[in-house]
Amino acid sequence: MRQTVDLGYGTPPPDLRRWDREFLWHPFTYLREWLAPEFEIPLIVRGEGARLFDEQGRGLIDGNASIWCNVHGHGHPRIIAAVKEQLDRFAHSSFLGFSHPPGILLARRLIEEHLGKWGFSRVFFSESGSNGIEAALRMTLQWQSLTGHPERHRFVAFRRSYHGDSLGAGSVTGLAAFKSFLGENRSGYPVTWLDDPEQLAEIGAPGDIAGLILEPVIAGAAAMVPWPDRTLVRCREWCDRHGVLFLQDEVFTGFGRTGRMFGFEHEACPADILVLGKALSGGVGPLSATVTNERVFRPFARAESIERNFLYGHSYAGHAVACAGGLASLDVFREEDVLGRLQGRILALGEALEELARHPGIAQVRRRGFAAAVEVVDADRTEASTDYGRTRGRRVTRECWRLGLAARAIGNSVILVLPLCAGEEIVREAVEIIGEAVRRIDGPGS
Ligand SMILES: Cc1ncc(COP(=O)(O)O)c(C=O)c1O
Repeated sequence: MRQTVDLGYGTPPPDLRRWDREFLWHPFTYLREWLAPEFEIPLIVRGEGARLFDEQGRGLIDGNASIWCNVHGHGHPRIIAAVKEQLDRFAHSSFLGFSHPPGILLARRLIEEHLGKWGFSRVFFSESGSNGIEAALRMTLQWQSLTGHPERHRFVAFRRSYHGDSLGAGSVTGLAAFKSFLGENRSGYPVTWLDDPEQLAEIGAPGDIAGLILEPVIAGAAAMVPWPDRTLVRCREWCDRHGVLFLQDEVFTGFGRTGRMFGFEHEACPADILVLGKALSGGVGPLSATVTNERVFRPFARAESIERNFLYGHSYAGHAVACAGGLASLDVFREEDVLGRLQGRILALGEALEELARHPGIAQVRRRGFAAAVEVVDADRTEASTDYGRTRGRRVTRECWRLGLAARAIGNSVILVLPLCAGEEIVREAVEIIGEAVRRIDGPGS
């Protein structure tokens, strides 16, 4: 029986789980399961470091890095102070025809400290990964038109991909589960689909192709499937040969997840347009960036009428508080040598997963850097199943929650993406919990 705990949201304490079922509609959530009275809604009321806490004060490792946004842990004093300071100045003004210090400073530091050496020079802020991608796609089409190629209206994308769920971003997303909304009369951008970079050679006449989009290093939402070595280089060469812009989606892989600051650094192969999101704000607020080189920016800057400029952007684009969080996050990366200290944690994760992979209930373990997936055995396993209809992964994550790990499943894969601040002990504990959860699912009576 749960105790009633005063969480400071009024007296008497609100009946949160009942009101959740009564008033909310959660994103990417299996509602039938959620609404069943016996389902224990995972309720988070506090975070500290790599752990979240439920209303009973029970600590749970944040194995989802709060949907892949958190990097330095919850409540990092430097980030919290920066956010509070900015809130005291102002929370939000407009970035549409106006500017503000945190936005300017964050753009400058992204370029000067991290991305300028790879040829990037301009930062266009939005407020979600999907909108960062949407901006990148539209920039690409308009750039082709401004530079004399309006016939280039098609994209090349990979089937094993997720780039967001707005109409444009959804139309270059390959995973079937995310496309059902497009239905029979599908609209959205026309796309040439590939399974792997080898197939680039089979694209006969690329004269109508505007851009190629890829998530570097590892396909995250495809349940962490790593790309073969030299995938980026191959795409880059193909794009250069055919007048196509190369778009890289680092909404997930950016900011250390794969062991380097950005995924493309593994192949030293930057894009023309790079999209960042999630961890960009240090995990405290919605923020994304569509980052371009000068070749992409110039035709827009030279356009003589406003209609030929980039007429795109949302009310909360470049949110000042989120930008302040992003600036503090860059400080933390540097001052706490986050990437240096991460390397030992990556080794610990690799070792723990290797041991877990011997368990008969585990079909496969996939990992790149600090991002991993543990796929559980299913009777009719398909390779790297991202079929959301499969329930075994979800059963394991429900068990994980009971054992002290907040994790999310994609199909039959349990996704393990820890905040970068999670030390080796937490890494091992998280993997042990997954192992124990699988044992319980496989146990008698399951
Ligand atoms: C690679 C990638 N691109 C884009 C997105 C969309 O980001 P958002 O959910 O912030 O719109 C995601 C979200 O998971 C992602 O993983």
